[in-house]
Amino acid sequence: MNTKLILCATDGSEHAFKALEFAADLARSKNAGLLVVHVQRVHGSGRISPEMQELERIEQVRVTEADILRSAAERIASEGAKFAQTKGALDVESLVVEGDAARGIVDTAKARDAGAIVIGSRGLGDLQGLLLGSVSHKVAHLAPCTTIIVR
Ligand SMILES: Nc1ncnc2c1ncn2[C@@H]1O[C@H](COP(=O)(O)OP(=O)(O)OP(=O)(O)O)[C@@H](O)[C@H]1O
Ligand SMILES: [Mg+2]
Repeated sequence: MNTKLILCATDGSEHAFKALEFAADLARSKNAGLLVVHVQRVHGSGRISPEMQELERIEQVRVTEADILRSAAERIASEGAKFAQTKGALDVESLVVEGDAARGIVDTAKARDAGAIVIGSRGLGDLQGLLLGSVSHKVAHLAPCTTIIVR
C-alpha cells in the first residue's frame, strides 16, 4: 500500500466521523498525510430569492445559492479535517470537489495518488436496514486503491 497519502471522504454524518477517526489513526501510524474530501453535489444557481436580495441590499453582501452551498461544503470538509487533527492526524488537508459523490472521491484518489480511501458504511441517507450506502458501494467498485469501509 502506498501510504504517503490517505483519503477520507466525509458528508458530515456520524458515520463519516467514525471513518475520520479511523483514518486519523491510520495516517498517524503510517506517518502519512490525510486528505479530507467532501463532494458537493449541486453547484447551485447564481440567482437569489427576493428575501436574499433584500438582505444583500441592507447588509451590502452578496449571497447567491451557489455561495451558500459552497460555504456549507467548505465547512463540512474543514470540520472533518479539524476533527481528524483532534484524533491525532498531524498532516491534514481539506478539499471540496464538485460533482457525483463517488466519482469525485475516486477521481481525487487517482489524481492525488492516494494509497487508501477510508469511507463510512452509511451516511446521511436514512433508509433503515441498508448495510451500505450507494456512495460507499460505488466507491468500493471503482476505487483505484485499497478501500476501507468503516462500520
Ligand atoms: N458528498 C459526499 N462527499 C464525500 N463523502 C461522501 C459523500 N457522501 C457520502 N460520502 C461518504 O460515503 C459514506 C457512505 O455514505 P452513503 O452516501 O453511501 O450512505 P447513505 O447516505 O446512508 O446512503 P445514500 O446516500 O445512498 O442514501 C459516508 O460515511 C462518507 O464517508
Ligand atoms: Mg448519502
